[in-house]
Amino acid sequence: MAMPIPFGLLPDTARLADDGSLLIGGCSLIELAETYGTPLFVYDETHLRNRCREAVSAFGYQNVVYATKAFLCTAMARLAYEEGLLLDVATGGELHVALAAGVPADACTMHGNNKSIDELRMAITQGVRQVVVDSFDEMDRLDALHLEGLAPPNVMLRITPGVHAHTHEFIATGQDDSKFGFNLRNGDAMIAVDRARRCPSMQLVGLHCHIGSNVFAASNFAKAAEVMANFAVPLDLPELVLGGGLGVAYTVGEEAPTITQWGSVLLDACAALGVRSRVSVEPGRSIVAAAAVTLYSVGTVKRIPGIRTYIAVDGGMSDNPRPVLYGSGYEAFLPRAVEAERGGSARIVGKHCESGDVLIFDAAVPGDICVGDVLATPVTGAYGQSMGSNYNKVPRPPVVFVGDGRSRLVVRRETFDDLLACDIG
Ligand SMILES: Cc1ncc(COP(=O)(O)O)c(C=O)c1O
Repeated sequence: MAMPIPFGLLPDTARLADDGSLLIGGCSLIELAETYGTPLFVYDETHLRNRCREAVSAFGYQNVVYATKAFLCTAMARLAYEEGLLLDVATGGELHVALAAGVPADACTMHGNNKSIDELRMAITQGVRQVVVDSFDEMDRLDALHLEGLAPPNVMLRITPGVHAHTHEFIATGQDDSKFGFNLRNGDAMIAVDRARRCPSMQLVGLHCHIGSNVFAASNFAKAAEVMANFAVPLDLPELVLGGGLGVAYTVGEEAPTITQWGSVLLDACAALGVRSRVSVEPGRSIVAAAAVTLYSVGTVKRIPGIRTYIAVDGGMSDNPRPVLYGSGYEAFLPRAVEAERGGSARIVGKHCESGDVLIFDAAVPGDICVGDVLATPVTGAYGQSMGSNYNKVPRPPVVFVGDGRSRLVVRRETFDDLLACDIG
């Protein structure tokens, strides 16, 4: 008999109500589903702020750069900035949203392995804090922009340290065989440093690496810090960025280091290796993933004797593509009965026209789950809403922030007319 959903997988303010249902931020999930409809992303604002504060206390004020790709809307950009984080934006679009939120450009770092000249021009004219340069072709574009009369931006060089992180191959980025960064082992990294130092089109302020995402092994981070420190210390640049990548527990039995533990591993390694420069990090997932649950409505329960039970909900791969992309695991529970044993087993699927549209391949669910139930998947705050799509022209779900017994809609549900907003023919 599978256990009830453990509170460790729920947002910080999750509490049991007197009737056995779940409250987050003092709000009933069942009532939120009634008010805003489903699917619905519910973020615990206290949880978000707690993780931001934990990161700032582990690494220091302005040494934490929130990776907006994990989850970005104007409310989230403002929250992170209010909590003393800078923002990592990887495209012109992410920069646009950050600026629209009122975050100053000089709190934003511009990333991307293939920034267009327009994105670079936008970043420089807006006055971003740093551009993280990823290739020699990008350096050519910076030269061209300098010839146009643009001021040289502060740049970091993204270095590929040759460390293979233990994670899914699609999100491992620090190995030699990577589209990201300047390869350390083959000498490109040193050539890039020499060029950046000589070029009037850029001001070299530091080095950067990011070995991958959803990494659980502290040893991977320590190794990357060691490789980067050995390269960086003789260069004596003002800043070293060790990326993001800290994993989070998604399912029962998974355990990840805390942000505080991650901070100790990285900062102790840097201190031991004689790093004198400012050390900063770029967490995304570890700030937002466990802050949210997604609420769905159960639409069909199809029992195929001797094979399996399919439970179809009103969302799917369009609001959470991670199971399809990486085979990622999740848990499910019924907010009306949080402490119920989850003795049934089912495949939780979406409403899209593919057999691959799976949210949970083998979910433990309460045996009395039925059509009309609100079903919740926890730890869905990172790379769900932000990687979502309109596949099958399904409007994207809204986002609510909850706290102190109140909910506020921060992203409204898309309408059918939104689906036509770009059609001109
Ligand atoms: C350059 C860079 N920094 C930070 C991050 C954030 O990683 P995570 O969300 O795993 O912390 C990413 C994600 O892929 C990234 O590419």
